[in-house]
Amino acid sequence: MDAQQTAPNVVWQLPQVEPEQRRTLLRQSPITLWMTGLSGSGKSTLAFSLEKSLIESGHACFVLDGDNVRHGLNRDLGFSPEARTENIRRIAEVARLMNAAGLIVITSFISPYRDDREMAREIIGDEAFREVYISTSLEQCEERDPKGLYLKARSGLIKEFTGISAPYEPPFNASLSLDTSLYSVDLCMERMQALINPFLHSGSSQAR
Ligand code: ADX
Repeated sequence: MDAQQTAPNVVWQLPQVEPEQRRTLLRQSPITLWMTGLSGSGKSTLAFSLEKSLIESGHACFVLDGDNVRHGLNRDLGFSPEARTENIRRIAEVARLMNAAGLIVITSFISPYRDDREMAREIIGDEAFREVYISTSLEQCEERDPKGLYLKARSGLIKEFTGISAPYEPPFNASLSLDTSLYSVDLCMERMQALINPFLHSGSSQAR
């Protein structure tokens, strides 16, 4: 079946809980921070640090991370352009559900194609979607090579590796750009927290 189409005879069911009830319960409005950038650019480090800080300050938050989601939900997907598009489509749908449940979502995927990120924005909705570009250079990511994957990609052991043998299309208009070779984790978190703050209701405890 076509993943883009809903099967016939499927009828949307209306919940009895209003979004406003969830916002009041959780003292926040849902948002998805969509982080994009090369492997090794620092996305996961920042995503998990920010999640910890939000939880510790009393905010319901969850990280969707590329490597982790590819262990389960998306374990059937590889790295062809089509598989990456399907990866992003599913993640965006999960983020939308988590937002509908009232959560703050931080996603950490290379998401190398502009069109795919636009699809994610459309699925999640413009009002809740903020794109964060982790702009750390390829040279820097390759020097760090925390998982040894760039070395393997250079020697041809990994095909279609982003930055080496597959493209990365940087955003034109990200809400925020952060180069983790220039800024500390704390400073990057502060900048991301500033995007989230308007979604935290006054009177609730704010991180930092
Ligand atoms: S995406 O391009 O589809 O958004 P995603 O973020 O889910 O990628 O997964 C990227 C992670 O998969 C990388 O951090 C790396 O650990 C691993 N990986 C394995 N093969 C590749 C590849 N060919 N290109 C990029 N990342 C890969």
